[in-house]
Amino acid sequence: MIRLMKHRNILLALLLLPLTAMATEVKSPNGNIVLNFTVEEGRPTYSLLYKGKEVVRPSHLGLELAKDKHASLGLNERDLMDGFLLDKEETSSFDETWQPVWGETRDIRNHYNEYVATLSQQWQTAPPATDQPGKRLQPRRHRRTILIRFRVYDDGIGFRYEFPQQPDLNYFLIKDERSEFSMAGDHTAWWLPGDYDTQEQETQECKLSEIRGRFREAVNWGNSSVAVFSPTGVQTSLQMKSADGLYINIHEAACTDYATMHLELVDAETKALSTKLEGNSNTYTPNPGPSAYPLPRPFTFVSHLTPDATGLKGAMQTPCETPWRTVMVSDDARDMLSSNLILNLNEPCKIEDTSWIHPTKYCGVWWEMIVGRGSWHYTNDYPSIKLDQIDWSKVKPNGTHKANNENVKRYIDFAAKNGLDQVLVEGWNVGWEDWANMWKRDVFDFQTPYPDFDIKMLNDYAHSKGVKLLMHHETSSSTQNYERHLEKAFQLMNKYGYDAVKTGYVGDIIPRGDHHYSQSMNNHYLYVVKEAAKHHIMVNAHEATRPTGLCRTWPNLVGNESARGTEYEAFGGSRPDHTCILPFTRLQGGPMDYTPGIFVTKLKEWSDNPSWARITIAGSLALYLTMYSPLQMAADLPENYEKFDDAFQFIRDVACDWDESIYLEAEPADYITVARKAKGTNNWFIGGKCDENGHEAVIKLDFLDKGRKYDCTIYADAKDAHYDTNPQAYTITKKVVKAGQTLKLKEAPGGGFAISLKLKD
Ligand code: NOJ
Ligand code: CA
Repeated sequence: MIRLMKHRNILLALLLLPLTAMATEVKSPNGNIVLNFTVEEGRPTYSLLYKGKEVVRPSHLGLELAKDKHASLGLNERDLMDGFLLDKEETSSFDETWQPVWGETRDIRNHYNEYVATLSQQWQTAPPATDQPGKRLQPRRHRRTILIRFRVYDDGIGFRYEFPQQPDLNYFLIKDERSEFSMAGDHTAWWLPGDYDTQEQETQECKLSEIRGRFREAVNWGNSSVAVFSPTGVQTSLQMKSADGLYINIHEAACTDYATMHLELVDAETKALSTKLEGNSNTYTPNPGPSAYPLPRPFTFVSHLTPDATGLKGAMQTPCETPWRTVMVSDDARDMLSSNLILNLNEPCKIEDTSWIHPTKYCGVWWEMIVGRGSWHYTNDYPSIKLDQIDWSKVKPNGTHKANNENVKRYIDFAAKNGLDQVLVEGWNVGWEDWANMWKRDVFDFQTPYPDFDIKMLNDYAHSKGVKLLMHHETSSSTQNYERHLEKAFQLMNKYGYDAVKTGYVGDIIPRGDHHYSQSMNNHYLYVVKEAAKHHIMVNAHEATRPTGLCRTWPNLVGNESARGTEYEAFGGSRPDHTCILPFTRLQGGPMDYTPGIFVTKLKEWSDNPSWARITIAGSLALYLTMYSPLQMAADLPENYEKFDDAFQFIRDVACDWDESIYLEAEPADYITVARKAKGTNNWFIGGKCDENGHEAVIKLDFLDKGRKYDCTIYADAKDAHYDTNPQAYTITKKVVKAGQTLKLKEAPGGGFAISLKLKD
């Protein structure tokens, strides 16, 4: 009997051992991408090749857990970092084609090979104390199982951690996730400084080794909430290019009930991970301290999650999983833009009836306030406002309030005349007198209009002309206040016939200490989207966390800002290459409400604002194609568009929803050319946008129907156009074209072009 027991133990040990030695190889369906996975000295380790070239060098995976004051979480003192055995490996394949409710293409193929590693940790802790003298208790044995699931696509990989429910892993707190992405060289990177509260910086372009030196100047210190954490911390989606021509992009997919991920680069000077950045304006977040594990080699990015007000990164309850971590790779930059990796890694649509969700073109009572010629607020007579203590009928108006009946009607007339679907009106509701940066909890009620905004009359007027108003809910980041009023605010929208809301999260989060991209805030944004869906309301959230493809699951999330938008053209301006980078970075996770369409770029022409937009008119038209979104704004003033009505024709004509999209030319921060076929039609639109150096686009019309003719209208930069010296110089040319022809178009510095192609019958 004793001998048998012994043998059983040896057998058990042998069963647990052997899988640790050899790496498992998993190929993408076309074989170009090869993932290797192994458990190296107890640590899960992966690497990635593309056509035989190193993309990710051997990199560790794991999570550091946080100690908790509750005894029930005592097991968390053992991290999910090392001591792992590989218990089981499973592989499978998947291939399906699905149709998004709206999108760049009618069909999306989701084709991958999957590999799942089941890993366990076993250890023992001291026996529990006993008050019976002489009684010896057995040590406590513990066993935890986690899964790491990889999906290997032709354009990249996704992986995530999964935590099944089990006695030794039930509730746990995350100190930080330590997923590594070890780069094979000193790549060029297009990056934003990692920040827990803003994504509105200009992109930096430099070598990985230069990030530390560039970091301070890259921070948008003027933003109303800034919380940087490390001199080599960067945001995702991070676009890179290797010296041997590989385009590599790191991001995440399906971030729900989890904090948004940043990346911390280990460089030659790194002493420890997640040390606090000196001089950081964010002084109130407790720092859970540096990592206890050895540093990976230089040029390795390590995941860094956004903390909550306690400084911790996540409170988890099994069964649960992390978002997908994604690495996209190709030797062709166009593949970065046409990839559906992020959407594919999200869950299918959870809304049964999607008939109420639709692409939308809109204008708005907005730009004149952003530029400073009008105000959101109604009165200048109060130093502060308490919403429940003011009789608005007795308040003296300031005369600059733009959400007034007459002005809103002017925009409705403009929308109706030009076939725009909706009119956004900001500043319609009481509370704007002291709305920002006051730590004010009860800042808006989202229900009470100012006295000069007749909500019923204006909605009726709009509807009578086939137009809808677009609701605005600036929350001022007072999130509990918004949640308290949400149901009534949505009921009000339903009552008056609004079906879309632009939300906003300006300033530091209230309650104080939390951050825009923490687990709790990510839960808030999704809560709003889900509640909106119940009311058949589409959501466009500004300042919310950068998207991770959740619009597949919740297609009423039609837009986000979550990056530096057109408003910055009124705050000093953005570089001309800005819009040639965003599609590679911010747009990976979902559409951006970039609010394009500025025709009068020198704002001095109609305001006191000295700022100016670094773009030509033809370049502004191109953005409706190169910056994909089902929600597109014509952001300039009606009177500015009236001056250039022939160019505005393109904005009237352009579609916002597509059956096909073909990226014809692309290079990050230099140029993007794309052709798109409007949904349910035979009409095509082509757009090209370039940086400050200009570009010559060569477009082969081989995607048109063979043997058919198309009426072609080309909106191009004039020969002498220039984003600074001559931004309003454009030409409009009409001709008939057919498949097989080639168009050559010169784009001016900071310019672009837009083409519409209508099938001739
Ligand atoms: C910032 C938004 O991005 C902008 O569009 C809006 O007008 C202001 N917040 C006010 O809500
Ligand atoms: Ca450039």
